[in-house]
Amino acid sequence: MKRLHKREDWLALPRPSSRLRRLSLKLPHVSLKLPHPAQCAAFLASAFGQLFVAIFLLSGSALAQPPQCDPDKVLTWESCAKCHASEVGVWKQTPHHQTFDELSRDPRASEICQKMGLRSVKRSDVCINCHFTLKTKGDKLKPVSGISCESCHGAAADWIEEHNDYGGNSATKEDETEEHRDQRLANSTAYGMRNTRDLYLIASSCLHCHTVPNEELVNIGGHMAGSDDFELVRWSQGRVRHNFLRSDGQRNAVSPIERLRVMYVVGMIADLEFSTRATAEATETSTYGLAVATRAARTAKKLLKLNQVAQIEEVDAVLNAFAEASLSTNNEAQLIEIADRIRQSGQEFAVNADGEDLQAVDPFLPNESEYK
Ligand code: HEC
Ligand code: HEC
Ligand code: HEC
Ligand code: HEC
Repeated sequence: MKRLHKREDWLALPRPSSRLRRLSLKLPHVSLKLPHPAQCAAFLASAFGQLFVAIFLLSGSALAQPPQCDPDKVLTWESCAKCHASEVGVWKQTPHHQTFDELSRDPRASEICQKMGLRSVKRSDVCINCHFTLKTKGDKLKPVSGISCESCHGAAADWIEEHNDYGGNSATKEDETEEHRDQRLANSTAYGMRNTRDLYLIASSCLHCHTVPNEELVNIGGHMAGSDDFELVRWSQGRVRHNFLRSDGQRNAVSPIERLRVMYVVGMIADLEFSTRATAEATETSTYGLAVATRAARTAKKLLKLNQVAQIEEVDAVLNAFAEASLSTNNEAQLIEIADRIRQSGQEFAVNADGEDLQAVDPFLPNESEYK
C-alpha cells in the first residue's frame, strides 16, 4: 500500500467539542430484502408489510449500494413527457441530453478510445455506462438517450404507476391526506425511485458519475478524473435545474433556501462517500489515485469547517468514520466499509433534516451568479 494523501493534513483542524444539538432518529440496524413489486400489493396491505417498509426506509441500511439504472426497467424519457413536458424541455438543453449526439463527434472522445484500445464510443460499454442511458431490447442492451430522467431518478418500470397515484383514478392532489402522500413517496422509493423524499439518493446518482471511478479510463485514457469543483447546489440549480411542481407549475424556480441548505450538506456527504469509493479502486500512485484521494480529503476538510459552526450530529458521524480511513492504494476493503458508513449517516441526515434549523449553512452556499 502506498499513501495517496496525508491524513494529518485535515485531521489537524480542531474537532467540534461542544454538545451536538441535533438529534437524529436512531433505529436498529436491519438489512432486509424487499419483495418484488409484483408481490408487493398484497404484502403492503398487511400490517407487517407497512412496518417492514417503514423500517426499510428509515434505517436506510438496505440501500447501502450505490445507485444504478437497471436497463431491464428503463422506460425512457418519452414515457415521462406527457406529464412532465416542462422538465423534458429543460433537460433537452443540457449537456446530459446533448452528449448522446455529441460525444461520438468529439475528437477528445476518439483520443480517449484510441488510448484505451476501444473501437468507438457507442460500441464500448465503458463510455455508454456513464454518458448514455441503456435499455434492454430483446437480449441486447441499446443506448437510447444521453443521461436521462431515469439516470437520476431511477429506472421507472416499478414506480411509474405509484409515484403520482393520489389514491385512485378520481383522486386529486387536493384530496390527498398527508399520510397517503408520505406512504406514496415511501413506496415509490422502495420500488427504486430517487425522489425528493431522500435527497441523498439523487445526490448519489450525480456523484456516482461525477467522481469518474475508473482508474484505467483516467490513467490510460486520459479522461478527466472527475468533476473537481462539483458541489450539489451550484451544479443542480443552474442549467440542469427543473423545479416546476414545487413553485406554481409554470415557473422554473430556484429551490427555497431551507431546501438548498439540506442539499448543500447532502451533496458534501455524498461527495465524500463517492470520493472514498473511488479511492478504494486506486491501485497505483498516479493521476487517478492522487486526484480522488485529494478530493476526499478536501471534502472532509470542508465538512469539518462547516460542522464547527453547524454542529450536525450525522456530519460528525461521517467525519468520525472518515477519520479512520487510510487513503492508500490497494485498500479497498477498508475504504468501502467506511464509504458504507458515510452513506448510512448521509441518508439519515437527508431524511431527518429540517432546513429551518440549518441557518449556519448559509455562509457556505454559493451565490446565484455561480450556478452552473
Ligand atoms: C401520468 C402522469 C405522469 C407520468 C407519465 C410521469 N409522472 Fe412524474 N409526476 C406526476 C405527478 C402528478 C407528480 C406530482 C406528484 C406529487 O404531487 O407528489 C409527479 C412527480 C414526479 C417527481 C417528483 C417526486 C417528488 O416529490 O420528489 C419526479 C422526480 C417524477 N415525477 C419523475 C418522473 C419520471 C422520471 C417519469 C418518467 C419515467 C414520470 N415522472 C412520469 C405525473 C407523472
Ligand atoms: C464513470 C463515468 C464516466 C465514464 C465511464 C466515462 N465518462 Fe466521460 N465524462 C464523465 C463526466 C462526469 C464528465 C463531465 C465532467 C465535467 O464536466 O466536469 C465527462 C466528460 C467527458 C468528456 C468531455 C470532457 C470535457 O473536457 O468537457 C469527454 C470527451 C468524455 N467524457 C469522453 C468519454 C469517453 C470517450 C469515455 C469512454 C471511453 C468516457 N468519457 C467514459 C463521466 C464518465
Ligand atoms: C449517468 C451519469 C451522470 C449522472 C447521474 C449525472 N451526471 Fe452530470 N454529467 C455527466 C456527464 C457525462 C457530463 C458531461 C456531458 C458532456 O459534456 O458530454 C455531465 C455534465 C454535467 C453538467 C455540465 C457541466 C459543465 O461543465 O457545464 C452539470 C451542471 C451536471 N452534469 C450536473 C449534474 C447533477 C447536479 C447531477 C445530479 C443531480 C448529475 N449531473 C448527474 C454524467 C452524469
Ligand atoms: C442530472 C440529474 C437529473 C436528471 C437528468 C433529471 N432530474 Fe429531475 N430532479 C433532479 C434533481 C436534483 C431534482 C430536485 C430535487 C429537489 O430539489 O428535491 C429533480 C426534481 C424533479 C422533479 C420535481 C421538481 C419539479 O420539476 O417539479 C420532477 C417532476 C423531475 N425531477 C422530473 C424529471 C424528468 C421528467 C426528467 C427527464 C426529462 C428529469 N427529472 C431529469 C435531478 C435530475
